[in-house]
Amino acid sequence: MKLPTEKPVLVTSALPYVNGECHIGHLRTYVPADIYVRMLRKMGYEVVFVSGSDTHGTPIVLSAEAQGVTPEEVVEKYHEHFRRTFAELNVKFDYFGRTDSETNHKRTAEIVQRLVENGFVYKKVLKQAFCNTCGRFLPDRYVEGECPYCGAVARGDECDQGCSKHLEPGEILEPRCKVCGSKADFKDQEHFFFKLSSFADFLASYLEGLGGTLNARNYAREWVRKELRDWCVTRSLEWGVKFPGREDLVVYVWVDAPIGYISFTEELLKNRGKEEGWQRFWKEDGATVVHFIGTDIIYHHCIFWPAMLKGAGYSLPNAVVASGMVKIDGKTFSKTRGNVVWVSEFLERFHPDALRYFLVAHSSHTKELDFSWGAFATRLNNELVGILGNLVHRVLSFGYKNFGVVPEGVVKEEVLVEIEKAKAEVVRAVEEYEFKKLVDAAMGLANFGNSFFQREEPWHLLKQGEAGRERCGEIVKNVLQIIKAVCVFLDAVLPEKMAEVWEGLGMKTGSAGSDLRSVRLEEAVAEIKSGQRLKKPKKMFERFLATAEGDLKSPQPPSRNKK
Ligand code: MSP
Ligand code: ZN
Repeated sequence: MKLPTEKPVLVTSALPYVNGECHIGHLRTYVPADIYVRMLRKMGYEVVFVSGSDTHGTPIVLSAEAQGVTPEEVVEKYHEHFRRTFAELNVKFDYFGRTDSETNHKRTAEIVQRLVENGFVYKKVLKQAFCNTCGRFLPDRYVEGECPYCGAVARGDECDQGCSKHLEPGEILEPRCKVCGSKADFKDQEHFFFKLSSFADFLASYLEGLGGTLNARNYAREWVRKELRDWCVTRSLEWGVKFPGREDLVVYVWVDAPIGYISFTEELLKNRGKEEGWQRFWKEDGATVVHFIGTDIIYHHCIFWPAMLKGAGYSLPNAVVASGMVKIDGKTFSKTRGNVVWVSEFLERFHPDALRYFLVAHSSHTKELDFSWGAFATRLNNELVGILGNLVHRVLSFGYKNFGVVPEGVVKEEVLVEIEKAKAEVVRAVEEYEFKKLVDAAMGLANFGNSFFQREEPWHLLKQGEAGRERCGEIVKNVLQIIKAVCVFLDAVLPEKMAEVWEGLGMKTGSAGSDLRSVRLEEAVAEIKSGQRLKKPKKMFERFLATAEGDLKSPQPPSRNKK
């Protein structure tokens, strides 16, 4: 989707639950969103990029209980962990908040109040699982039992090992308390429901115009076509945002979590001294709002969230970009089964840019991404080292050794045409949220640079007197122009490595000195200045050294690769 240029763009990444460490599956939401934001800025858009920690919900309370600490302590620890991990990966949010902030409590209370006033919330008595031993009601993940649809063992909120249906409070059969294991009873308890069913027509027409990836829209349409059930939006928990007027109930975590997108916009603009600025994004249709998420939370973003916004009188998101899920060696991620790759173990051994690259280069954004160390090794060795590293190292070393500066010469039409072609593909890729096409276009251009250099054999010309040296310089300048363009196109994906190359090309110093991060896409075709001082290049990426076949088969990274 081509976004309107006159409006600012608000890009959000789904809020991570802060009850465990960051794994590479998470990154498929954050890295592509960061790449998208960096590209939009290069395309001239004004962009705001927010995310933050999802601090509520039963999993956090349960893990706090298991560790004998408070939910705040769990949140504190992992909030810091995610913040640091994103910084290490150069995922640069303008603001990274947390949903337990005062702003979010207030905004959530205001929106829920509005939904009540507008008649979209009603009270209903439910038969809820109650543990006599622990003396309390058991909200979603506190219960385990039997799925009423397929009979599999299920948790209270989802049939997680069977048919994967969402379970409403009170639906589970044969409930047992997860804390003490005893059989639970059913007891009456008052809850509040959101009239999702009354939004079917609204959603059907909203989804027609929703941008983003087709998977999100198509799944959502199918759900609207089938049936929308009302949502129970309260839980009997201490930890969370209180339901207005009820000390014994908090709102369901999926109510206050997306509202975080609004609160973080508020907090950011407040920090920038614009107290009411957030309204432009969420009330006045004054901005384009784009959500980045994974396939598993399409329902929440394309059905529940817009209905809630509509019901409370807010403006609506324009696009939902949903990535396919990350699998490992063909299997679904599972922490309990040890089938997981942690980001920290990755970064101990490899440069963050290599991981950023792999996450977008390995498959189309909406498709599943099957991670294996073998697949990572192949992309790193063949593409980052073999094509990109080779081009930069070979040409910059040659240019540095023989000229020391960008030589004189004319940039050939043939070269400019290739760059323009890649640029058009890059823009289209961003508009289609196809980040693989973006890297493919840039790598295609790098490949062209390699063949051009090889074909022209400039090293022979050096032995042919002054005229030969001049022709040699011109060829070098042409390939340096290609490298400059590759830097502009791949900066969003490989921000640290491309900034180093940019500096190596002499782009940072001198009269026309510029910072790669802030240049526009057009800079790719702007002629590289003759006379700029070149630097001796450093090796860009180390090859992946597998010591044995087994290394590539195990879910653990080979131990001897250092970044
Ligand atoms: N807290 C919710 C989101 C609330 S947004 C208002 C949540 N958190 S999460 O920590 O489970 O996931 C954070 C992001 O990572 C989500 O976009 C989710 O889709 C994504 N992924 C988590 N595991 C994933 C994979 N294995 N593969 C791809 N994306 C995955 O959901
Ligand atoms: Zn089931």
